[in-house]
Amino acid sequence: MQNSKIVGTGSYCPELVLTNKDLERIVDTSDDWITKRTGIKERRIAKDGQFTSDLAAAAAREALAMAGLKASDLDLIVVGTVTPDRQFPSCACTVQHKIGANNAAAMDVSAGCSGFVYALSVAHNAIRCGASKYALVVGSEVLSAVTNWQDRGTCVLLGDGAGAVVLGPAEKDTGIRSIKLKSDGAFGDLLYSVDDNITRPVPSLPERHNHTKPFYLVMDGNRTFKKAVQCLEEIALATLEEAKVGVDELALVVPHQANLRIINALAQRLGLPEEKVYVTIQKYGNTSSATIPVALHEANTSGLLRPRDKLLLVTFGAGLTWGGSLVDWAA
Ligand code: UT7
Repeated sequence: MQNSKIVGTGSYCPELVLTNKDLERIVDTSDDWITKRTGIKERRIAKDGQFTSDLAAAAAREALAMAGLKASDLDLIVVGTVTPDRQFPSCACTVQHKIGANNAAAMDVSAGCSGFVYALSVAHNAIRCGASKYALVVGSEVLSAVTNWQDRGTCVLLGDGAGAVVLGPAEKDTGIRSIKLKSDGAFGDLLYSVDDNITRPVPSLPERHNHTKPFYLVMDGNRTFKKAVQCLEEIALATLEEAKVGVDELALVVPHQANLRIINALAQRLGLPEEKVYVTIQKYGNTSSATIPVALHEANTSGLLRPRDKLLLVTFGAGLTWGGSLVDWAA
C-alpha cells in the first residue's frame, strides 16, 4: 500500500487585528490576565462578508502554488470546520467552486478543534487505498461569528484563520507515518454550540450564558483544560508508538493552540524542550481546526523543516475529539 505526504502548505489569517487591549473595552478583562492565563496577545477577525470558505480558498491557493499543482489536479477536498458558511452545501464544495477544482469530490468534517487532523486522516486513507492522488486538506474557521462577546471566559480566546495542505502519493515509510483519532461524546457538555434555530433542548447541557446570537459557543474552560492535557499526552504517545518513533527523535511538535499553559504542560509531560514545540497562539489565539495547518505553514516557510524531519501534530477539541499524526517530512 502506498503512503501520502504533504507536498504544499498554505495559510490565510484576516488582516484585522483584535488586541487584548481592544478586548478590555468589550468585556471585564485585562491584557495581563489574558497573557498570563493563555499566552494570547492578539487574534485576527474576519471582516463582514468574509466567510470560512474565503479564508479556506486563500490558504488552498497558496498550498497548491507551493505544490506546483493546478486546482484541477485535485481529486479530493476535505475541510475541517465548525463554522461552515452555512449548514449545506458544505464549505468544501464552496471552496471547490472558488478555487476551480472541478475534478474533486468535496466534503466537510466536523470534529471541533480536531477537524484538521480528522480531515487529514480521511485524505491520507483515500490516497493510501488508491482512491485519490492529490487531496486538499483545510482547517478553516470564522469563530468570531459564533463568539459570545459578553462571555469573557471564551471571547478572549478565539480568532479567525485558515490553513491548508496538499497531500500527494509517497513511498512507504515516508510522509504520514501514523494517524490516531479518538472521541468521547460523554464529555460533549465541556464545549458545545447553542443554536436556537436548530438545537432541541438537551437536558444534560447547561445553558449558562445569555443569548446574544442565535448560535454561539459555550465552554467549561477549567474542566476542558484538564481533559486537554490528559488527552494530548495520551494521543501523542499512541501516535509515536504506532509510527515506532521515540520522543527524542522528534524535530518539532505542532500542537493545537488553545492555551500556552496546555502546550507547556504537554511539553513537560513528554519531556520536550521548549524549542521543539511550535507556538503561534500569541498572534492568532485559538482558531480551532486552523491552528495546526497555520502553524505548520509558518514553520515550513520559516525554513525550520528539513527532509526526513519527524513532526508530531497533536490536537484536542469539542466532542470530545482528539488526535495525532506523525509526519516524516518528505517534501
Ligand atoms: O480548543 C480546544 C478547547 N479549548 C481549550 O482547551 C481551552 C481550555 N481552557 C482554558 O484555556 C482555560 O481554562 C481558560 C483560559 C478558559 C480559563 O483559565 P483558568 O485558569 O481555567 O481560569 P478559570 O476559568 O478557573 O477562572 C479563574 C478566574 C475566575 O474568577 P474567580 O471566580 O476566581 O473570581 C474567572 O471569572 O478568572 C476569571 N476569568 C477572567 N478574568 C479576566 C475568566 N476569564 C477571564 C478573563 N479576564 N478573560
